Amino acid sequence: QETQVSLIMIFGATGDLAKRKLFPSLYHLYRKGKLTDQFAVVGVARRPWTNEEFVQHVKNSIENAVGCHEDIDDFASHFYYQPHDVSDTASYQQLKELASELDTKYRLEGNRIFYLAMAPEFFGTIAHHLKGEGLTDTAGFKRLVIEKPFGHDLPSAQELNESLRKAFKEDEIYRIDHYLGKQMVQNIEVIRFANALFEPLWNNRFISNIQVTSSEVLGVEERGRYYEKSGALRDMVQNHMLQMVALLAMEPPIKLTTDEIRSEKVKALRAMRQMEANEVPTYFVRGQYGSGVNGETKVVGYREEPNVDEQSNTETYVGGKILIDNFRWAGVPFYIRTGKRMAAKSTKIVVQFKDIPMNLYYGATKPLSPNLLVIHIQPDEGITLHLNAQRDGSSTETKPVKLSFANNSVDSMNTPEAYEKLLYDCMRGDATNFTHWDEVALSWAFVDKISEYWSSTPASFPNYEAGSMGPKQADELLSNDGFHWWPID
Ligand code: BG6
Repeated sequence: QETQVSLIMIFGATGDLAKRKLFPSLYHLYRKGKLTDQFAVVGVARRPWTNEEFVQHVKNSIENAVGCHEDIDDFASHFYYQPHDVSDTASYQQLKELASELDTKYRLEGNRIFYLAMAPEFFGTIAHHLKGEGLTDTAGFKRLVIEKPFGHDLPSAQELNESLRKAFKEDEIYRIDHYLGKQMVQNIEVIRFANALFEPLWNNRFISNIQVTSSEVLGVEERGRYYEKSGALRDMVQNHMLQMVALLAMEPPIKLTTDEIRSEKVKALRAMRQMEANEVPTYFVRGQYGSGVNGETKVVGYREEPNVDEQSNTETYVGGKILIDNFRWAGVPFYIRTGKRMAAKSTKIVVQFKDIPMNLYYGATKPLSPNLLVIHIQPDEGITLHLNAQRDGSSTETKPVKLSFANNSVDSMNTPEAYEKLLYDCMRGDATNFTHWDEVALSWAFVDKISEYWSSTPASFPNYEAGSMGPKQADELLSNDGFHWWPID
């Protein structure tokens, strides 16, 4: 089993992401033997905590998230804390000293991972100081892991990228898109490229359309301030949704290497048809939730949420039709939709195959259902193939049947969560499931056209009820092409 040796310095270590995802993921890796005793974690944040307070915080996070105590003291003894001011040079000098002490103590071979789990406005400053104060000047590897948002649009993303590139090379920058760590998102490639059944059909001769849905039940919660500036387009489409589209649309890579896979994804993103501003309404629909019912509970509309403008024009839903102009996909719409306060928490891909040339079962009560391949990403993990079989006792009628494979593991300890996989990949230096700058740039260029149009035209919000499947206009995107959204459950 591969084990890893590294110092992991987490900026924003008192925050939510560290607590909910990073500490539990590191703990899982430790318990599985993927981290040996040669690792140390330095938590960095503004709060004036002591090491002891931080260690207690880490232990509490793990107990809450994992509910498991085994080896927890040994594990937590690798954690250190350093109060920090992101723009203060002396602060970085202290960090540097601590890093080299830990390097010796844990025999870390000079390997360093800098994980920025905090507000993006500080990314550039931190990278600048890490280099300026010599923290990146190390005998082992140095890697920078950054969370989204990676900029706000293409120009701001470019600016951010340039500032990071002054301290880190492209192949040292690991841009997190946590969807790429999900088991079934990683499985898209395997389903496509390891099955003789699918790959020959994976094109415009046999597929009529592809639908990618990522719906959430939760509203904006306490993130109103961030979300007001972001909206669903920047929060979900620019990254997660377009990444799934790229994996579905890309050509088979010639090898399973990071560079080959990324370059195929980049080609797919480059082939997305760019819209002119006046075409945006033909291809994209925005929505914002009003009040409604969530399960049994009444919930308020987006405009009534904390830290949200009562006239807000921010979209909490996006539905869209993406066309990919290449030989494989010409004429096949990729429909995407994502939103908050929808009917269910679900991420699913439905691949709808074209109808057979002639329907022999003309006498059937209903038209023949098309074949569907459904890839269940969450909460269920698996695939379902929808086929037609004979209706009992009738030679002319059919009934739909499903072949299902469920990937859900009973043993949650052994099912790595997205962050666990991504952290492990980063430690091993495998950047395949992180986004390359070229992907980020192409995604922004695509999304910017939409946001420019939307910000220049007022929306009539709210236009969908909390607990529903989004605005009606999103149904029209498909019905205009003779399709409909397949139910997500
Ligand atoms: C994040 C968004 O990137 O993804 C959130 O910022 C969203 O707004 C989340 O809720 C959804 O992730 P998941 O894994 O729950 O589908």
